[in-house]
Amino acid sequence: MCGIVAFCGVKNAITPLLTGLARLEYRGYDSAGLAVIDPQAKQLRTIQRVRQEGRGMVEVLREAAAEAGLGDDSQGITCGIGHTRWATHGAPSVANAHPHCDCQGRIAVAHNGIIENHGRLREQLTAEGHTFHSQTDSEVVSHLVEKHYALQNGDLAAAVRAAVAELSGSFALAILHRDYPEALVVTRNDSPLVIGSCATGAIAASDVPALIEYTRDVCYLDDRDIAILHANGSVEYFDPAGEPYTPNTYHIDWNIKEAEKGGYPDFMLKEINEQPRVVRDVLKGRLNTQAKTLELPELAMTPDELAAIDRVYIVACGTSYHAGLIGKDLIESWARIPVEVRVASEFRYANPIISSNTLVIAITQSGETADTLEAVRLARRAGAHVVAITNVIGSRITTEAQTTIYIKANIEISVAATKTFLAQLCLLALLALFLSQERGLVNETQIVTAFEALQRLPQQIEAVLADTTSIDAAAEVCADATTVLFIGRGVGATTCYEGALKLKEISYIHAEAIAAGEIKHGTLALIDPIVATPVVAVAVASATHDKMLANIEEVKARGARVIALATEGDERVGELADIVIYLPPTYEQLSPVLASVALQLLAHRAAVLLGRDIDKPRNLAKSVTVE
Ligand code: F6R
Repeated sequence: MCGIVAFCGVKNAITPLLTGLARLEYRGYDSAGLAVIDPQAKQLRTIQRVRQEGRGMVEVLREAAAEAGLGDDSQGITCGIGHTRWATHGAPSVANAHPHCDCQGRIAVAHNGIIENHGRLREQLTAEGHTFHSQTDSEVVSHLVEKHYALQNGDLAAAVRAAVAELSGSFALAILHRDYPEALVVTRNDSPLVIGSCATGAIAASDVPALIEYTRDVCYLDDRDIAILHANGSVEYFDPAGEPYTPNTYHIDWNIKEAEKGGYPDFMLKEINEQPRVVRDVLKGRLNTQAKTLELPELAMTPDELAAIDRVYIVACGTSYHAGLIGKDLIESWARIPVEVRVASEFRYANPIISSNTLVIAITQSGETADTLEAVRLARRAGAHVVAITNVIGSRITTEAQTTIYIKANIEISVAATKTFLAQLCLLALLALFLSQERGLVNETQIVTAFEALQRLPQQIEAVLADTTSIDAAAEVCADATTVLFIGRGVGATTCYEGALKLKEISYIHAEAIAAGEIKHGTLALIDPIVATPVVAVAVASATHDKMLANIEEVKARGARVIALATEGDERVGELADIVIYLPPTYEQLSPVLASVALQLLAHRAAVLLGRDIDKPRNLAKSVTVE
């Protein structure tokens, strides 16, 4: 989704704006722009704008800005806003790139989100004499602020407040006015915005990486609140009624290295390789070794409430939804509570059966996914206890759910989720074990044994990462194919859904995952002996292992080339499959953790062979803040 950076200070604003935009590139974008006030150019008194269409544009923008006299060394320019656009309304083009100005070029606006009532506002503003220069929904904001600025006698914050009151939809906005060279106004509704101060000024952005170089202490705005960033670094916060308040400050404890590739060719590979550390962090401090009990204080539910849970819904999108599918198996196997996993965009329009004994688990790495947020609101209105599992401190979901459990994976830059997915899986395993403990279904020994299996995972992941020979061979097969099928049973099948999604999203190869028992009911027709359609079979040790072997025989007999994931020492799979990726042994319920690492590497390697843009796959965005 779009990225915003706003800086107002006493030193050069161009560097923080361009550096911030570069750090937001991971969100995916198709054009970029910035707008600044040059206080030296008093006669002109207009905002200077530079906008570029295309990807990789932040660098081009830097050059264009320098040509326009807005170089990194522009010491006189101390206040500005920048934007990376991910097109929703209007094609990617310079005219549609942000920031957008009002009729007189006095106001510039950068927007992330969707203004749902833009059509009506545009008609109204056009009738009132405003002229539009883009096809975007966002441009209505600059004209609306222009209108209210006149009505509010030149009070920018009051004008923004009045404009915001007329907007529906989602937005994070940064607003610049040429008559305010020492202040900026920002606001938001259902779109992320983080604010911080440093020695040289105040800065706001869509995500922490854009400002981490300047500060680690950040604040978040509530919906429709307004903040004024001052050049001296102070920030004033106001609620929608205009009442000032002091927000909570959150300390970000990861550093800038986390947002850099650290010698890896891309962020995805770096993040895949961080997974042993991530899993260790998820498990840290969870087992009370004296009492031999699991601890999950963030769940914040009384023993009576825990005992009363009679149904669990897991709501999520994309990869987080796949974590939920695996979580269902963990919770049902270990805690014996019925679990339904629902795609958030469906759940929010369904009529789910919810009572005060329903536990809703909302999984979202970004904490900002619009559909998941709406599903949480629905669940809370219906009286469920809602727990959020997220990676982003202070993200929107943390204010919507009753309780939040952080996965502590640190920032994930690559659009394709990897380490956050693994952290979600491990946290769901902990949650399942905890529910089982609280409901008296496991004894101390069983808890410790299961926890030890979890503790072995980081080392086992390291083993998968250390030898990728078979994975590389499998990737060559996949890279040559137009379709790859993924089959598995039980958690093996759900592992396949995520494996297929990873391959699709970064290599653009069509992939389909299916429960292996289902393949003969239709999908088998896709196996083409002429091209030897690749079939990835997750055939690790499991209760249905023999059935999986039969399914492998079935696809082999139709001419498929089989890439199997098997448990070390499994010679039977070795005899049947064309390529075998061996994985260390673990509990069947935990096998998705290891198998997913292998499938992430498979997708990554295939995408590299095809020359894809690994971290920024086409058409995709890191956080999906619109419906
Ligand atoms: C795929 C991927 C997406 C996200 C989905 C939900 O690699 O990252 O499918 O999982 O957009 O995002 P979150 O978890 O932020 O709610």
